[in-house]
Parts: sequence; C-alpha cells; structure tokens
Amino acid sequence: MRVSIIGAGYVGLVTGACLAELGHEVVVMDIDEARIEKLQRNIVPIHEPGLSRLIEKNALDGRLDFTASLEEAVKGSDVHFICVWTPPKPDGQADLSAVEAVARSLGELFSRLTPDKPIVVTKSTVPVGTGDRIVQIIRQSYSGPLAVISNPEFLREGQAVADMMHPDRIVIGGDDEEAASAVAALYEQIKAPFVVTDLRTAEMIKYAANAFLATKISFINEVANVCELVGADVDMVKEGIGSDVRIGRAFLYAGLGYGGSCFPKDVRALQQFSNHHGYDFKLLKSVIEVNEQQRQLFVNKLRKHLKNIAGKEILVLGLAFKANTDDVRESAAVDIIKRLQKEGAKVRAYDPEALLTAQKVLDHEIKYVGNPLDGAKGADAVVIATEWPDFKDLDWAKIKTLLKNPLIVDGRNLLDSKMLRELGFTYEGVGRK
Ligand code: NAD
Ligand code: UGA
Repeated sequence: MRVSIIGAGYVGLVTGACLAELGHEVVVMDIDEARIEKLQRNIVPIHEPGLSRLIEKNALDGRLDFTASLEEAVKGSDVHFICVWTPPKPDGQADLSAVEAVARSLGELFSRLTPDKPIVVTKSTVPVGTGDRIVQIIRQSYSGPLAVISNPEFLREGQAVADMMHPDRIVIGGDDEEAASAVAALYEQIKAPFVVTDLRTAEMIKYAANAFLATKISFINEVANVCELVGADVDMVKEGIGSDVRIGRAFLYAGLGYGGSCFPKDVRALQQFSNHHGYDFKLLKSVIEVNEQQRQLFVNKLRKHLKNIAGKEILVLGLAFKANTDDVRESAAVDIIKRLQKEGAKVRAYDPEALLTAQKVLDHEIKYVGNPLDGAKGADAVVIATEWPDFKDLDWAKIKTLLKNPLIVDGRNLLDSKMLRELGFTYEGVGRK
C-alpha cells in the first residue's frame, strides 16, 4: 500500500520510517523545505535512537521518499496520515490550524485528482470531534468517496522506534469498517492487540492515556513531598505500591514533574475541552498545579542549602525534558534554570544531546560546558535536572574536589545517595531519605 505522511516531526518521521520498514511505500511531506532538503540527503533533524539507520536503509531500498509538495505525496497514495503539530493556544486549547490547513488542501487535491476512496488518518493528537471537523472541511471541496480514521500515537521520545514497532496496543477509530481494516492491515506484521472503535472514542483514548500518566506522576510527587515531612522514602514507597499489579511501577518516578511537548499540552487541552462541553475536570486542575509547584519546591531546596541563590555558581546537569532526546520543549530543566536566573544565580549547564536545542530557548547568560567536570570547577551546587543514565557513572569523587561547595540537589532521584554521602557530599533528592 502507498502511504503519504504529512508532517515530518517526531511522529511523522518515525511513522514513515517504520511503515517503510514494514514494507509499505511511503512519502513523507512537510512544509518546512529546509527540513525536507536535509532528509533527502539522509540528514535526520531530530535525535531519536535507531531512526537515522531506519531512514537511510529504507530510502536506499526505494520505499521511503521525502517531498515538500503535498500534491506529490498525495498523488498515487491510498492512505494519508496527518502528523502535523497541534500546539497549545494561550488558554490551553489545541491549536488546530495546521490540521485544518492540511484538511483543506487535501479536499482541493482530492477534487482535482479524483482518487478511488482516499483514507485520511489522524495521528496528531486532536480534541474529540476533530475527525468530524476534518470530514466537514474536506467536503467543502470534494464530494467523492472518503473515509476519516483516528489512529492515535502512543510513542515516547527517546524510544520512539521501539514503541512503534512493539506497541502495547494499536487504536483505530472510525465508522467505515473497510477503511478501518485497511489501516489495520498496514500494521499486520506488528504483534499487538487492536482496539477498534468509533472516531470520537479513539480521540478520547489518546487524551485519557496521557492525562492518566501525568496524574500518576503528580500523585507520586505529592507522596514524595509528604515523605519528606514524615521521614519516609518515596523510592521504597514506589517499590511497595508498584509491585501491586493493579498499580504498576511505571510512571511513579518522583522528581521535577513532567515536561515535554505532550503531557503539559494534552492535560490542559483535555481540561479545556471538558470545560467547553460543560464539565469541570477537577482532578486535572490539581495535576497541573502539583506539576508547577514541584519546580518551585525544588528551587526552595537549593535556597535552603545556599541561603542566598544570588551570585551563586550552579551547575545544571541535563537540559532535555527527559533522557535520550534533544527535545527541550516544556523541559523542567529549562524552567528551573529560568527560576534560578531570576534569583540571580550564575548558571553553567551541560547536556549530552540538548545543548544546541537549549541554546535556542535560553538566554546567553548561561555558560554551556562540554563536560560535567569542566562545569564543576568552583561551583556552589550541582543540580540534576534530567534523568540521563550517564550522570550516575560520573567520577563523583573527582567532581567533589573541583566544587567550591559539595552540594547535590537531585531533581530526578537518579544518583546513589549513600555513595555520595559517603564521599562527603550534602545530597538531597525528592522525597528520598
Ligand atoms: P513536531 O513539532 O516534531 O513536528 C510537526 C511537523 O509538522 C513539523 O515538521 C512542521 O513543519 C509540520 N507541519 C506543520 N504544519 C504543516 C502543514 N500544514 N503541512 C505539512 N507539515 C506541517 O511534532 P510531533 O512531536 O511530531 O507531534 C505531532 C503530533 O503528534 C502532535 O499532535 C503531538 O501531540 C502528537 N504526538 C506527539 C508525540 C511525541 O512524542 N512527540 C507522541 C504522540 C503524539
Ligand atoms: C508521552 C507518553 O509517554 C507517550 O505515550 C505519548 O505518546 C507522548 O507523551 C505524546 O503524546 O507525545 P514523552 O512525552 O515522550 O511520551 O515522554 P515520557 O517518557 O512519557 O515522559 C514525559 C515526562 O514525564 C518527562 O518529563 C519525564 O521526565 C516525566 N516523568 C516520566 C516523570 O517525571 N516520572 C515518571 O515516572 C515518568
């Protein structure tokens, strides 16, 4: 089957590369001509383990192509995946202007190209009812056979290729059984249960999944905050409750809270569209509040140890919103740095992958260092802001000799607190004894 992918971001590129790997003929389209031009030369604009290899291999085998022309992508394709961005508006609503622009262009192209029965699939995360809106928009210029299907994506950045090839489930929503089966057939080599449902339910599943995971994170963060007050240890609480299969260990890591391009925006969007339909989703209000509070509590911890943050040299390890990505969108690390700078701190920062992306969103007052040891020289404190596993294996004994003050405030509960205290550090995590 020939597939067009519209939007060459994290989701579009991974979907395109994986569908090509599964044997389909794929054309990936984006309005960003510079991005497409790079992809045509096998330069992958994002850091995602395994993606470059997959793109190079499938492009070489002739199953994967890139274009900046929507017409070129759509012509001769049977299924069209919408993978464009849906960023938040200031009030939390999802901005659907890119999705709607694509739907308009598809309608015009379908009316000109008269395909047999185009299948339009939304993979972008879109509020419930967007699939129906896409039908309406396409119908403004095209009256032939048409199916719109929702196939939400659950991949995580940093392990996106593995998530797409080995998903926990594949959700397909739509009222046209033949089209839903055609979309399911694209994934037939993947071993995963299918959840087949209607369009609106599939759209809701995506928001419910992200909001539930964000709720787990805010829940464990509140538990961690209470642990600090009562002398309990959140790591062991996680073990104790996570071993109950009804609860599970996943997404119970306490720390600086969730960031990234999706949880913050999707939780707010679900709250916003619930409200729009007359329902006050009270729980989500607290999930958001706790997530914001977690960052301020962290800065308070630093203040407690340093007395005064102004003028202090602080080494921040980690800038990405999580490990194994160069993505800094809504990164807690970036937020912490801005708060520290506001209080007059002098920040040095290190990240194994996200130095360049972070420089685009942070000001020039920060000293970016090429390795943690350089950043440690004369620093008053070390902050762990991203859960990069490599930070565990740093030469902490050496780092201690370089610091002015041996203080570590670990926002991800990543490091071995016992070992560090034995080395003579003052160590503080989140909800850890
Ligand atoms: P992204 O910002 O990485 O990429 C979006 C791409 O869409 C950009 O390259 C942009 O140039 C392109 N684009 C914008 N308007 C376009 C248009 N009119 N025509 C063609 N291309 C256009 O976004 P992403 O992270 O891939 O996310 C895309 C969607 O998938 C969002 O709705 C997001 O919520 C959802 N999602 C993301 C993830 C993730 O981990 N990043 C996971 C699941 C779902
Ligand atoms: C998340 C979901 O996990 C994916 O299923 C979903 O497809 C995606 O959003 C999306 O819709 O875009 P992602 O944002 O890539 O994926 O990253 P996660 O691994 O979920 O982490 C999100 C944030 O939560 C990170 O800042 C991470 O540090 C934080 N987190 C995660 C915690 O603070 N504690 C945890 O226990 C887990």
